[in-house]
Amino acid sequence: MDEILINGGKRLCGDVRISGAKNSALPILASTILGGGECIITNVPRVVDVLTMGKLLGILGVKVSHEGNRAVIHAGTIESTEAPYDLVKTMRASVLVLGPLLARWGEAKVSLPGGCAIGSRPINLHLAGLAKLGADISIDQGYVTAKAARLKGGRIYCDTPTVTGTENLMMAASLAEGTTVLENAAKEPEIVDLADFLVKRGARIHGAGTDVITVEGVRELHGGDHEVIPDRIEAGTYLAAAAITRGDVTATHCRPNHLEAVLMKLREAGAEIQEEKDSVRLTMPKNLRGTDVRTLPFPGFPTDMQAQMAALMSLAEGTSVVTETVFESRFMHVEELRRMGADIRVEGNRLVVTGCKKLTGAPVMASDLRASAGLIVAGLAAEGTTQIQRVYHLDRGYERIEEKLGVLGAYIRRRPAGASH
Ligand code: EPU
Repeated sequence: MDEILINGGKRLCGDVRISGAKNSALPILASTILGGGECIITNVPRVVDVLTMGKLLGILGVKVSHEGNRAVIHAGTIESTEAPYDLVKTMRASVLVLGPLLARWGEAKVSLPGGCAIGSRPINLHLAGLAKLGADISIDQGYVTAKAARLKGGRIYCDTPTVTGTENLMMAASLAEGTTVLENAAKEPEIVDLADFLVKRGARIHGAGTDVITVEGVRELHGGDHEVIPDRIEAGTYLAAAAITRGDVTATHCRPNHLEAVLMKLREAGAEIQEEKDSVRLTMPKNLRGTDVRTLPFPGFPTDMQAQMAALMSLAEGTSVVTETVFESRFMHVEELRRMGADIRVEGNRLVVTGCKKLTGAPVMASDLRASAGLIVAGLAAEGTTQIQRVYHLDRGYERIEEKLGVLGAYIRRRPAGASH
């Protein structure tokens, strides 16, 4: 297992090119199951989760070839309708094949994902929605099986907006007989990106990006080309890294309008931010100031930026309150940040972060993807060496992170764990 070593304290300066969004690429790849034509997807980030989705599609019998950031996919026939436990346990987003398999092939058997480091993450709303479309759902020996000769459109209300749930239901409804209305749908840009791709392939979807999505089912989808949108969380992570090092960084190839809540909070924290059409430049003319943050579904502040913001606030003047409302226990980074000298108190779903003068490098353990990103942000500003273990979490969602940070001037390197040089 690799680890990442950072010698903190270096000001980050320069341009960083933002990769395609992992959380868009995953549903887009899964959606190729919905039709037999060739799909060419570009700006696909080469991160482990995307490779895992490719592997899963391969097991199902879909032809996938990756070349750099381009994937060519052909889902003419299928060999299996089962997503096995061994893959699903490594990536919860595997559940995204449930809707497409069921809608196109009449059945799907998907392992239930099990525990997660950021809290209980049930898929009850995915299942309730599919049942509303007429699927017969059963759970046996850790697997959920869904069957339906052909799904029928219906009215679905989601108790809570769910990103992958909305994606699963939108994909399933695309091939259903009749019209589906999805209420209290999630509004994340990744949902709009998926809808855009499905529409290019013949789906009839209206309202993606609002909380009511209407899908008129069609018999089949054809192939299509698509460029994945930029990763707003990756962009936010580099901007947080720029802020904590008082740097001057421009995130290029990104969409500032997907980042509004994050940019507003960074401004409140003292950053000066210039937004162009597809880039954001951050400088830090003032001292870092404490600011309160509350995570919410889009367009609110993303839970996927909470750990990076907590790291940033730990060096800000004053006290900040960071409230997590999306996941029940997404605070695994806190103990690790404390080991670096951060003054953070956990009170239920809130962090009370009292800014301190400095952080010091320490060996720390990554527990999930965004927790790792928070530790990287902290390590970049800490005195001495931060040694981040279990880097495989980071590799799930950040493309060439040490290379990109290195270009910005960070002292960062990767080595096999246990190596002494
Ligand atoms: N929820 C339910 N029942 C369901 C589905 C969700 O109660 O059937 C609850 C969850 O427990 C949670 C809330 O609804 O409290 C929202 O969860 P959501 O379903 O929206 O999360 P997700 O679809 O599993 C996606 C991203 C996550 C991101 C969340 C929130 C993908 C592949 N994953 O997860 O990304 O944190 O939305 O924005 O899109 C990451 O990239 O590190 C990551 C975890």
